[in-house]
Amino acid sequence: MKNNNWWRDAVIYQVYPRSFADSDGDGIGDIPGITSRLDYLHDLGVDAIWISPFYDSPLHDGGYDVTDYREVDPRLGTIADVDELIAQAHKRDIRVIMDIVPNHTSSEHEWFQEVLRSERGSAAWDRYMIRPGKGADHAEPPNNWKSVFHGGGWSRLKSPDGSPTDFWYLHLFDSTQPDLNWQNPEVRAEFRDILRFWFDRGIDGFRIDVAHGMVKEEGLPDFDYDDTEPALLGDAPHAPFWDQDGVHEIFREWRLVADEYTPPRIFCGETWVPSPERLARYQRPDELHTSFNFDYLTANWESKTLQKSIDDTIANHEIVGAPPTWVLSNHDVHRHASRLAPVDEAGDRDLHRGLRRARALTLFTMSLPGSMYIYQGEELGLPEVFDLPDEARQDPLWFRSNHTDIGRDGCRVPLPWSGTSPSYGFGPTSHSWLPQPAQWAELSVEAQQGQDGSTLEFYREALRIRKASTALGGGDLKWLDHVGDVLAFTRTSADGSSIISVLNLNNDVVHLPIEWGRTALIASSDDIAFLKTEGSGEFLAVGPETAVWLTQ
Ligand code: NOJ
Repeated sequence: MKNNNWWRDAVIYQVYPRSFADSDGDGIGDIPGITSRLDYLHDLGVDAIWISPFYDSPLHDGGYDVTDYREVDPRLGTIADVDELIAQAHKRDIRVIMDIVPNHTSSEHEWFQEVLRSERGSAAWDRYMIRPGKGADHAEPPNNWKSVFHGGGWSRLKSPDGSPTDFWYLHLFDSTQPDLNWQNPEVRAEFRDILRFWFDRGIDGFRIDVAHGMVKEEGLPDFDYDDTEPALLGDAPHAPFWDQDGVHEIFREWRLVADEYTPPRIFCGETWVPSPERLARYQRPDELHTSFNFDYLTANWESKTLQKSIDDTIANHEIVGAPPTWVLSNHDVHRHASRLAPVDEAGDRDLHRGLRRARALTLFTMSLPGSMYIYQGEELGLPEVFDLPDEARQDPLWFRSNHTDIGRDGCRVPLPWSGTSPSYGFGPTSHSWLPQPAQWAELSVEAQQGQDGSTLEFYREALRIRKASTALGGGDLKWLDHVGDVLAFTRTSADGSSIISVLNLNNDVVHLPIEWGRTALIASSDDIAFLKTEGSGEFLAVGPETAVWLTQ
């Protein structure tokens, strides 16, 4: 744990705590559950875990609606459990990153409750984005902003007796998630204090929720939606509520707090911004250490888009001296094993090819310079669960869209660990807060452990090679010329060792020059062969939708 630069090329595993491992059998994953599985994470070969929020919360948005930032949801454990988790993780050389939610609180947070009890002009009102409504009787919202979760972005404030006031509060997400006013010094001081509270307990860093949305444009002007809904996590360009220059000042203040510690604590921003150039601004030397790179995630299975995203991201990060990050799945998007699956005319997904592509793109991604995030369960090749029963759904997107948007529950189904019946080892009982598909028995950790060719063993091996290699992680990247839909580059370390990483996006075999490498360190499928023909001599055949790492 000595290396202060660990985050520059780390592999970080995202734990969605309610769905990871349940220690007490109530069907909800918890902190002791995570601690009990640290050996698994250590064997997988990750450097750190990022845990989605486990604070006290009424769970209107899976814990991203916080009532108390210094308390643990009693269903998930206690502060003492978190202390134990940190200690046990550190013992295994695994760093712990928490999730901070500064854009909004829960409407059940004491600060918002104080708003409901007080009048205009009170200190409480100034902590939130509260404005008078428009129209003669103030019955219209202050501007046209929409909620990312469907519907309007403003709700009318009620008086203690339940009658409507003339005022409205902003919520870019659910109406139970009022946006904070980051121009208010008290809000700023409070969050610096919350950072210290957890840093003092020994956590290694924070992922920052909606980092790009905390500051809103002066005057709150209407947004020209121009027929575009604000996409789930806000990639709308130049919206007056995203990516405002004022956010950078907050992160400079936060960086000073992180740097007070030894070793310095780190940040990773959730930053849905319009371009790699805008993204890199968050990683200037006195701001965040890293940010999520969603441009790459949304490139999916398009070689040109992938290559452009890689080039732009690396070039822009070089300017600010920061490492890029790469991620393919998280708790907000459809799992990439399903997202990448070809869909036929009838709308059916070819999940076999989806997993094949997912393994290939994952291996390729692991060879990029910088750090990489893995979302729990992707190492098992879990698909998205699209067909959850309606009554099980919990995502506010489902409710706010009048049951037309199935939202994100399908990537949050509890993990299968072992056995052939529910909850597949998720906990000691058959309960799981979202039902797991019966086919997941075959995908459990137990079923894949030690099985040649299983997705779990494939991830373990790839991460082992990545860690052992000086060429991957840090190191230089140089594209190789290729024919057809093939992406290939050489990674070279300062000590001169090199690895060639190849991604064949074709649905056909491609033949590559033997000079690219005579040894396959690892491939995402069995379809790799070093061949020799009379006419064309030696070459390497790489099967359809397959990635490989080569060395001489
Ligand atoms: C981003 C989080 O990842 C997502 O799950 C949440 O719903 C929104 N921010 C609002 O906090």
